[in-house]
Amino acid sequence: MTLTVKPSVGLRGETTVPGDKSISHRALLLGSLAQGETHVRGWLAAGDTLATLGVVRALGIDVRRDGDRLTFTGGTLREPSGPIDCVNAGTLIRLIAGLLAGQPFPTVLDGSEQLRKRPMRRVTEPLRTMGADIEDTNDRPPIRIKPANLEGTTHILKIASAQVKSALLLAGLFADGETTVIEPGPGRDHTERMLAAMGAPINVDGASVSIKGQRQGLPLQALDLVIPGDPSSAAFLIVAASIVPNSDIRVTGVGLNPTRTGLIDALRRMGAEIEVEDQSQQGGEPVGTLRINGRGEKPLAPTKEFGEEVVRAIDEIPILAVAATQATGETVISDASELRVKEVDRIALLAAELRKMGAQIEERPDGMAIYGPTPLKGALVNSHGDHRLAMALAVAGLVAEGDTRIEDAGCIDDSFPGFAETLVSLGADFS
Ligand code: S3P
Repeated sequence: MTLTVKPSVGLRGETTVPGDKSISHRALLLGSLAQGETHVRGWLAAGDTLATLGVVRALGIDVRRDGDRLTFTGGTLREPSGPIDCVNAGTLIRLIAGLLAGQPFPTVLDGSEQLRKRPMRRVTEPLRTMGADIEDTNDRPPIRIKPANLEGTTHILKIASAQVKSALLLAGLFADGETTVIEPGPGRDHTERMLAAMGAPINVDGASVSIKGQRQGLPLQALDLVIPGDPSSAAFLIVAASIVPNSDIRVTGVGLNPTRTGLIDALRRMGAEIEVEDQSQQGGEPVGTLRINGRGEKPLAPTKEFGEEVVRAIDEIPILAVAATQATGETVISDASELRVKEVDRIALLAAELRKMGAQIEERPDGMAIYGPTPLKGALVNSHGDHRLAMALAVAGLVAEGDTRIEDAGCIDDSFPGFAETLVSLGADFS
């Protein structure tokens, strides 16, 4: 699928974004272990989370879905009839590796060609220190798991990773004794929040989180959960309205968990006008309406002071780089080498594709330097099968001269089905 984007003269109106991807994965995975009936509203029905739905069903949980609503009774998982297909979903394969490490049946975890290029030792190695019988294939999927008795241990992570932290906590539910994970930075904490809401004895102390498990699994209470809109999807709208002159938009029901708001903090420092209205709590997560008031013709300022914001904005770096092409001066993003092992190498490929549109971007081992403001030119660009690159390039197209065509844009459905329609409802011209 090729998406064609025309330059925009202003985005206006009010919209929502689909449910949070990270929380949608966790609602299914944790709910599958809970006693009683789980009810979920606002669930994200996108490529990655539909993969999780398939996996949970393959493990014997009868999940009923009606649009964005799920109803299911958790409890004991059953041995699947074949290898588990995680499709493109990195979060799924890493979290389920932890969840299955302490189950009394063997499993094989696999996925698409894209997933088979992603590193898995970061979860298999620490799981083995807990006694797991788990093997990756040269650091990649497939992952083979055999039944084993797990013991709680302490893990000090070298890189902040909510996926690794969550995998270890999920294994910790089925381990005797205490599992502790210490992260070097503020990775997203949705697993901790959901486990606490389910009554698990979880203890968070700064960057350290501990849980006391038991071999047959900790009893967890089923939840009635409303999932907030995904801030990582809202990010594309926030940047679009910040760089397209004469824009004024509202995005309602967006998750504002502080471990996810690094982009908003960085953009505000760059001079973007982003206000939070109507903040409330929903299912243990802060939620609010964002109002983004375009700045007329006034350009953004560059920034170099990201610090721990990079961890809190790791999925938003591609769209932040697009914003930086419109800022006056040099923006430098560093400590972001994790971007090289996401769906694709997001540093190399984003720089290469944005350069086709005239952007001045220097690739660095752990990030990039962007010089602006650059008048972008419409071009034929490619997503390389990465949803966030596809959407970042589409937003760049809104401020480019002439048409921008994004090849292989169907991957947008991995996280934000309805992306083009949402922007069209705000006045953009996408076809
Ligand atoms: C996620 C954690 C992040 C993020 C990914 C989703 C999660 O990855 O990039 O899109 O839901 O736990 P890491 O944990 O590898 O940083």
